[in-house]
Amino acid sequence: MSVQWEEKYESGIDWADRQHRELVDYVASLVRAMEQGEGGVETIKIIKFLLGYVVTHFGDEETAMDENSYPGIAAHKEEHLNFKQMLTTFKVELDTSGASHHLTFKARKALVEWLSSHIAGTDRELALFLKEKAFKQEHLH
Ligand SMILES: [Fe+2]
Ligand SMILES: [Fe+2]
Repeated sequence: MSVQWEEKYESGIDWADRQHRELVDYVASLVRAMEQGEGGVETIKIIKFLLGYVVTHFGDEETAMDENSYPGIAAHKEEHLNFKQMLTTFKVELDTSGASHHLTFKARKALVEWLSSHIAGTDRELALFLKEKAFKQEHLH
């Protein structure tokens, strides 16, 4: 089954959902390229792209957390860091041993697990906080 957008990723915050859809697309392309055994240049290119994309996306979320004094900021930032490290590790492994079946399987599993736990979990908690805060600001003044 291919990696694709799922309803559980939806947070109700437009900019975050838009960026998450792109993120899921990039992860899907990466998994596809690895499954096709394209260990070389193409796959590395997608990983580099994905790394660049998450710098922007994580940056936007972290700014929103800072500006709204989000209490869970430290743990959330750590998950972002872990994801970047995970991608970097895959990139090194691809560089050295190509898209082996073992690496492809491992990467696919880890990426899908991260999407589920982070976008459908950690990011949705943040979205809930931001939406509640915006609601209160709108209605309690
Ligand atoms: Fe996040
Ligand atoms: Fe996110």
